[in-house]
Amino acid sequence: MGNFLSEELINEIKDANEIIDVISQYIQVKKVGSSYKALCPFHNEKTPSFIINQEKQIYKCFGCGEGGDVISFIMKMENLDFIESVKLLAGRANIEINRTESLENIKRRLKEKSLYYEINRKAGLYFYDNLTKQPNPALKYLSERGITSKTLTSFGLGYSMDSWDNLMLYLQKEGYNLDDIQKCGLIRSNKSDGYYDYFRNRIMFPIFNTKGDVTGFGGRVIDDSMPKYLNSPETLVFNKSNILYGLNFARKNIRNGQIILVEGYMDVIALHQADFKNAVASLGTSLTEYQGRLLKKYCDEIIICFDGDEAGTKATMRNLDILSKVDCRFRIMVLPDDRDPDDFIKLYGRDEFQEHIDKSMSLIDYKIFLTKNKYPGNTIEDRVGLAKEVSNIIKDIKSPVEREAYIEKIANETGISKESIRLEVLDKVKSTFVYKNNLKRGSDYKRSNNYIEMVPLAEQKGHIIAEKQLIKFMITDNKLIKHILNNVSAEDFSVTEHQEIVAYLASNMDNMKDKEIENLFPHLEENINKILSTDIEYIDLNNTLDKYIVNLKKYKLLYNIRILEEEQHNIVNSSNLTEEEVESKLLDIGIKIMKKNAQIQKLKSSMKGG
Ligand code: UTP
Ligand code: MN
Repeated sequence: MGNFLSEELINEIKDANEIIDVISQYIQVKKVGSSYKALCPFHNEKTPSFIINQEKQIYKCFGCGEGGDVISFIMKMENLDFIESVKLLAGRANIEINRTESLENIKRRLKEKSLYYEINRKAGLYFYDNLTKQPNPALKYLSERGITSKTLTSFGLGYSMDSWDNLMLYLQKEGYNLDDIQKCGLIRSNKSDGYYDYFRNRIMFPIFNTKGDVTGFGGRVIDDSMPKYLNSPETLVFNKSNILYGLNFARKNIRNGQIILVEGYMDVIALHQADFKNAVASLGTSLTEYQGRLLKKYCDEIIICFDGDEAGTKATMRNLDILSKVDCRFRIMVLPDDRDPDDFIKLYGRDEFQEHIDKSMSLIDYKIFLTKNKYPGNTIEDRVGLAKEVSNIIKDIKSPVEREAYIEKIANETGISKESIRLEVLDKVKSTFVYKNNLKRGSDYKRSNNYIEMVPLAEQKGHIIAEKQLIKFMITDNKLIKHILNNVSAEDFSVTEHQEIVAYLASNMDNMKDKEIENLFPHLEENINKILSTDIEYIDLNNTLDKYIVNLKKYKLLYNIRILEEEQHNIVNSSNLTEEEVESKLLDIGIKIMKKNAQIQKLKSSMKGG
């Protein structure tokens, strides 16, 4: 037949390339209500007007008018023609394009896929009947593990008989041929024995894709034989690294924007039974990027809850890497005594499980937690080891304020002085700082990005001077620290290095020794010297001080107003609000802005008056 891409093939390729997955590989897509939004990649914009419709698998930009399906997105994005784009997408989905493939062939392949889904479904129902229609060891085992009949049914659990040909004979009787059954991974063959059932005497877990098709199975032994779990082999419709067990249920039951990622089939099931219907598991492998993106599509945050043993910890770390890579938010939940979620729920119940979800840790907290486990003792070696390793973790924290908080916490826990830990952290910061400085020679101050983006340059004028002056006051006269920090805090400063110095001053105002500061911030020495050499207007100390404080406050208010204005923009551009909702939200924000403006006026007049 001809040398062409048939409509069937194109549709198959489109089907295999979920539009949100594809677009998310290029730009950051956010779920807003039931729709997906992004900043349009085809024109310059600050608020998202690029909408993706998952149901229809199309996108549309209401800013520039661009729109189409996944193929036209690739054409535009990669600057490719139609055929090249289809090829790229085919490659992405592991579909082989044979341009001389006949229409007949393509149709046959699509029919094959739906046939395999059908055979799998038949097999699943058969396993289910085996499990539920007569007494059998699998049912006994499951009920002893506390699985209710309702749960059995909602997961479609089943039992593969202790036989070499039970399923095979059944499916043949239903009219399917051995070749097709084998291509579903349900039977195997060898020279001496011929065909035989792949799953024997196992509890069967059907694995559904998000559309609800049965793509394959997991099977658990009922006794202690090996392997404990057996999964379907790779088939035309089953690929372990693209699928997550339980996602077909979890996607409809997202709680607080979260999905709980666990290790095993039984964990997913136990959690669903305890009403945590947002649990999913990967199939005995560590997460792939594909799975990471898939998860991200359905939730805002992943709670990772793996077994507490060494293997579980390692798997957790690998998964964290993947989730960071695909830019997915996560926290880590740790269960006591190496319990898995299934054991835990049975022992302590759902409320305690929820409490552990609420207590789940950030990456930094988790790393510190692991380090503490490594140095559990109270010996000098353990305490020093702990302090050193934790310092290395703390140095990665961007916010100086947060960093101080951790330093304090570790000091309390180890009995090592805050100063020593701080020195240790700064030592580590310094080595990375020198490196960064070499890269960015010449740039004097790094300003906190938020501020720089939000507040126009003209309005920043005089502000840095004010920050420097305030710091200089504090360093040269320690008694002023309290007065100044009563009015402004480290976060009010816009330069990262300034924040760092102020956070230090704040936590040490009671026992500052002269000039100690230069020693403690070796990497900031140059900045501090500059600050100290800046002229202070010493005419009227109190008045001058207040002027700077007002300046900082005014600056922060301006910054907040910019954020509110951004919000207004977003609301105006939002597609899923009614007109009245838009009106009332704009009004609310407008009032907030007026209040902030009034505060600025008041600050200004207080200065004139004083
Ligand atoms: P676990 O050994 O932790 O099992 O394996 P589990 O889920 O807690 O099951 P129970 O409670 O003993 O019944 C975790 C996951 O690793 C995969 C399976 O996906 C399993 O759910 N696995 C495990 C395999 O694929 N093969 C195996 O032999 C063992
Ligand atoms: Mn278990």
